[in-house]
Amino acid sequence: MSIRILAIESSCDDTAASVIVDGKILSNVVANQKIHSKYGGVVPEVASRKHQINIVPAVDSALKDANMKKEDLDAIAVVSGPGLMGSLIVGVTFAKTLAFALDIPLIEVNHHRAHIMALFIGDNKPKFPFLALTVSGGHTQISIVRDYMDIEVIGKTLDDAAGEAFDKTGKLLGLGYPAGPIIDRYSQKGKPVFDFPEPKVGGLNFSFSGLKTSILYFAQREIKKNPDFIKDNIYDICASVQDRIVSILMNKLIKAAKMTNIKEVAIAGGVSANSGLRNAIEQTGKKLNWNTYIPKFEYCTDNAAMVAMMAHYKFIRQDFTDLKLAPKPRF
Ligand code: KG4
Ligand code: ZN
Repeated sequence: MSIRILAIESSCDDTAASVIVDGKILSNVVANQKIHSKYGGVVPEVASRKHQINIVPAVDSALKDANMKKEDLDAIAVVSGPGLMGSLIVGVTFAKTLAFALDIPLIEVNHHRAHIMALFIGDNKPKFPFLALTVSGGHTQISIVRDYMDIEVIGKTLDDAAGEAFDKTGKLLGLGYPAGPIIDRYSQKGKPVFDFPEPKVGGLNFSFSGLKTSILYFAQREIKKNPDFIKDNIYDICASVQDRIVSILMNKLIKAAKMTNIKEVAIAGGVSANSGLRNAIEQTGKKLNWNTYIPKFEYCTDNAAMVAMMAHYKFIRQDFTDLKLAPKPRF
């Protein structure tokens, strides 16, 4: 018997749907909501309304791309959290209704854990136990992944997430939203000539709020001397910001690998699309004899394929949920 699942993700500002059959991704549709860029961040009410418009076409495309009818499905999977309440409601309600109408099981998926599952799409899969650095707009964590369902968080951010550090700094510098990919692009044209301090946080935890403040003070100081300082130096500033964020992440990952003696090391989440971070983990891996794993580019930022992958393993375990499922913004 084959396992055919439709997965839905609507936790923030992307409406995503994916079909997986026997652990193989057959479609991966993401409807981005470009509208938020003009507000400099995600507007929850707008996101929720856009999900309502996008969800039927996104699911329709995912089924068409996979050459499947909804009647062929064996289960529906959905992200129930963490995320924005108004956004989650749309995906969860849609998934429950479809599961009820088709009389098939419903599978609940945690968004954060799903990011780690992106590493299992494709041939180069990490071996258990491995270390996962998950970095996105909402999370920065280091976990020991012992099994698909057995994930222990051993370090996390005490304030902003790494993606937020990119986005908030970008806002300060007058870049668009989300600023992460823009800073990444500009970095490639500049050099990390400005030295921003590395926060002193004990153990495996992170802090990014101090970095943002030091960049703000630095910019204010330099603008006093040259009002065009940011414009004149934007590529070098971006390269310096990226270099520091990457070194903060890598130093903790190296520490975690030493403490746990694990040499299977992976990154996941939106910030794992960052060229500096991808490069750094590969270089460090070579030096320290790690086996390193990075999701394919399209599975780094929010998508439903990673949700489908988690759902596949939950289906095998018959780990279903009932129709009382409610969104969990703080899951
Ligand atoms: O995983 P994701 O799509 O959504 C959340 O779960 O938050 O991550 C979005 C975050 C944003 O903060 C965005 O700026 C960042 O990932 N991001 C990047 C890059 N691509 C996306 N940050 C740095 N460099 C990139 N290339
Ligand atoms: Zn995410």
